[in-house]
Amino acid sequence: MKFLITGAAGFIGSHTAQRIKLLGHEVIGVDNFSTYYDLDLKKRNSESLKKDSIPIITCDLRHKEQIEQLLPNDFDYIIHFAAHPGISNTSSFEDYFSNNIIATKNLLDFAEICTKKPYIINIATSSIYGSEATLTEREAPKPTSFYGVTKLAAEQLVLAKVRLGELKGCSFRLYSVYGPRERPDKLYTRLIACGLKNIPFTLYEGSLVHLRSFTYVGDIVDGIVSVLGKESLCNGEVINLGTEEEHSTQEGIKVVEKLLGKSIQIKIVAKRKGDQLRTKANIEKAQKLLNYKPNTSLEEGIKQQIMWYKEAFL
Ligand SMILES: NC(=O)c1ccc[n+]([C@@H]2O[C@H](COP(=O)([O-])OP(=O)(O)OC[C@H]3O[C@@H](n4cnc5c(N)ncnc54)[C@H](O)[C@@H]3O)[C@@H](O)[C@H]2O)c1
Repeated sequence: MKFLITGAAGFIGSHTAQRIKLLGHEVIGVDNFSTYYDLDLKKRNSESLKKDSIPIITCDLRHKEQIEQLLPNDFDYIIHFAAHPGISNTSSFEDYFSNNIIATKNLLDFAEICTKKPYIINIATSSIYGSEATLTEREAPKPTSFYGVTKLAAEQLVLAKVRLGELKGCSFRLYSVYGPRERPDKLYTRLIACGLKNIPFTLYEGSLVHLRSFTYVGDIVDGIVSVLGKESLCNGEVINLGTEEEHSTQEGIKVVEKLLGKSIQIKIVAKRKGDQLRTKANIEKAQKLLNYKPNTSLEEGIKQQIMWYKEAFL
């Protein structure tokens, strides 16, 4: 089978591309190498993919004419990771709007002109639920950030195509993913970097008690690839993917300190508007449809991430 993976130079997209290749499929990646975070990291991921014979085409999904050049367009699946991710005080509404909504609309228009109608696996987020993401997929979303709002719109664009019978596909809502290659703006990469370099860690005011379903990237990829062979069962479905275990930010900091064998200096900074207070993945549906069982402990996952960080940056 032939897969198009968008956002393949990024954190979760790169891991998924390598797993799909390992399963024996042909994989083509696309990425616009956005400068939202250090490009070196994306280049490093992309080098690692090249070694596995996964080409990454530089293409900005916001520009229709760039996507239409992806030939031959005989894809069986499109896995859509490309997005302006996370909640950032320095990102504009336009960043979220164009990379999350316009880019998804362009990708879907492209899917419709593909020679085979590819199955779309959309990658969404628990931020769609809002400040308390503990609900089942049936509950009404109440996003509190530009990120959550635009990712919800992107998801609905995909599902609308399915409802109209024009494409087949499903959407996964991911919960607080961490592990090797995690984005440098996220909790564990920042904590590990601060701990190893002995620099203060900036903690958003009030976030020490925030609760998260911190989910190891390998467990997320397991969930995504488990749709293969179950496409009809998942068609039109929204499915939460994450661990049911909850940890506070404080607990996360303690695990990193324990594994590094040192304490990390904390510097409190202003809170981020729209940040979630609690995420706890309700995965009854994923368990039922996909027999989904994330099983990496927080300590084991962070150990892997520390090993990756040391190898990549020290
Ligand atoms: N990391 C998490 O904890 C998490 C949680 C929930 C959902 N998600 C979702 O998973 C997906 C991947 O997130 P990530 O953490 O790997 O982020 P990432 O930034 O590492 O990966 C996204 C990639 O998409 C690319 N991209 C952005 N805009 C593009 C465009 N217009 N055209 C082409 N490529 C573009 C970026 O250059 C980047 O390499 C996103 O859709 C995000 O919303 C992530």
